[in-house]
Amino acid sequence: MAADYAYALVQVAHNVGAVAVVGSPAAAGLWMREQRTVPVVLAWFTASGWMIQIFSGIGFGLTSYLSRGELPEVTGVALFALYLKIGCATTGLALAGFYLLAPLWRREQTQHGLWPSLFFAGIAALSGAAFLRWLG
Ligand code: HEM
Repeated sequence: MAADYAYALVQVAHNVGAVAVVGSPAAAGLWMREQRTVPVVLAWFTASGWMIQIFSGIGFGLTSYLSRGELPEVTGVALFALYLKIGCATTGLALAGFYLLAPLWRREQTQHGLWPSLFFAGIAALSGAAFLRWLG
């Protein structure tokens, strides 16, 4: 029972993070149609979203371990989906981090590749979540 509440709270964070990693680059893409550069706050939302995904993803594992004494056994396609999500999260965090830390990454031309890449990393992770959920 307590574990169910813990899972639900972790899921709240995970869902909010998912909205941030897909929604912020989508908003940036729309913004770029009108303006040359994107507000830095959207990069903060994106980076925070990926961090939330990494920590809440670990939170799922931790909740399982503390409540059942073991980690869920994930194999095959579900394991591939988990690796995909971890890959997307590290890449997404790195890209958003570069944008925040290195002004060179804020050049107009770089942004045309950066924001769509971040958006697709979010969509790929979201797609991986479906396979992890139903084949895990
Ligand atoms: C380090 C990265 C990540 C880890 C370790 C991770 C791990 C997990 C785990 C263990 C679950 C529970 C699976 C289950 O219910 O059987 C889950 C669910 C979910 N994850 Fe992630 N995740 C990560 C990144 C992401 C990202 C980047 C997104 C979206 C952009 C995402 C979206 C979701 C969604 C939507 C669910 C709920 C699926 C459902 O129950 O219908 N995750 N994740």
